[in-house]
Amino acid sequence: MNEKPIFHDEIFSQLDKFQAMDCKYSDGRILGSMCTEAHPIAKEAFFKFIDSNLGDPGLFKGTKLIEDTVLKMIGSFLSIENPAGHMVTGGTEANIMAIRSARNLARDNKGIENGEMIVPKSAHFSFKKAADMLNLKLIRVDLDENYLIDTKCVEECVNDNTVAIVGIAGTTELGMIDPIEDLSKIAVENDIHLHVDAAFGGFTIPFLKERGYDFPDFDFSLEGVRSITVDPHKMGLSPIPSGGILFRDQSYLDAISVDFPYLTVKHQSTIVGTRLGAASAATYAVMSYLGKEGYAKNAIEAMEKTHFLAENLKNLGYELIIEPKLNIVAFNHPDIETDDLANLLEDKNWKVSCSSYPEAIRVILMNHIKKEHLVELINDLEEISKSI
Ligand SMILES: Cc1ncc(COP(=O)(O)O)c(C=O)c1O
Repeated sequence: MNEKPIFHDEIFSQLDKFQAMDCKYSDGRILGSMCTEAHPIAKEAFFKFIDSNLGDPGLFKGTKLIEDTVLKMIGSFLSIENPAGHMVTGGTEANIMAIRSARNLARDNKGIENGEMIVPKSAHFSFKKAADMLNLKLIRVDLDENYLIDTKCVEECVNDNTVAIVGIAGTTELGMIDPIEDLSKIAVENDIHLHVDAAFGGFTIPFLKERGYDFPDFDFSLEGVRSITVDPHKMGLSPIPSGGILFRDQSYLDAISVDFPYLTVKHQSTIVGTRLGAASAATYAVMSYLGKEGYAKNAIEAMEKTHFLAENLKNLGYELIIEPKLNIVAFNHPDIETDDLANLLEDKNWKVSCSSYPEAIRVILMNHIKKEHLVELINDLEEISKSI
């Protein structure tokens, strides 16, 4: 570290150099990210609350009220009036909190010491972290021909040690929505915590469903659903790190709360201690600014771009893994290996990501990818296709 202070302008010119090495969402070249540039009003609110610490909410009562209000606002489109929960750093932390609550309650109420959790093979890798940290056996069940969790396998895997079942509303790789209603029935019959990971789909499915999309129920309207992850920093247009975990009631938070003596409140149920209030303020700002109408418009635009890409790919002879349900298109070329196709696209300066099951190029139609970017991408894919 420098011994003597460095002046502001010099620091910022150094920072500019670092930033110039980063990819920019606005270039429209980042095809595989579930995050995007935050809405300007969210950024403004973020900086306004940059110093507030929700780890010590007695000092930041206004910010705490914002957090509670945001959770209620999210709850209003997930069929729950008064959710318990927190704004957290993202889907990973939210999923870990949900599973920790399920594990603790199963231990306290049923005496389960060697717990197991059942997740689909499509589950995000955060559940591997959760299983490892919480000392749970991870049971990964097969998917059916539509890449949805096979509920028959779930039924077969449930046993006396099962502490949680997980369903996904918007899978990371393909954007599929698991049959949460069937999982809910299994969960209720066996008195098991059903957690829904809607980190990606939470800010689109409810709005698309309301406008006629044929999507299954996935939220607290289903009796078995006890917790839902939903990430404002994905389709919610809030800055990183804005995640959300909602529980059906306070008892699930109590199950993961610890006492601490020296702060303004006496219990804390989040994983992190010191915790930024800025994400709550930013999410409050963008949600209020857009309203349900704005999110519906956003989701519909994302789906229009999705269909535009999907149709063009088919016309060029590329093969879709499955017809997209949400704003993710996964595809291959019949005569090019996925890795080779990824390299050819990288050579043309596209920032590509691949799905693993099945292997495919995966494009997530986030806000920063505009129609003109897709036209360029389609032209490049046509050129690749003709060159082999
Ligand atoms: C379905 C799902 N759950 C959880 C996560 C983890 O979210 P984060 O990266 O915000 O921790 C992701 C990330 O892509 C996801 O797609």
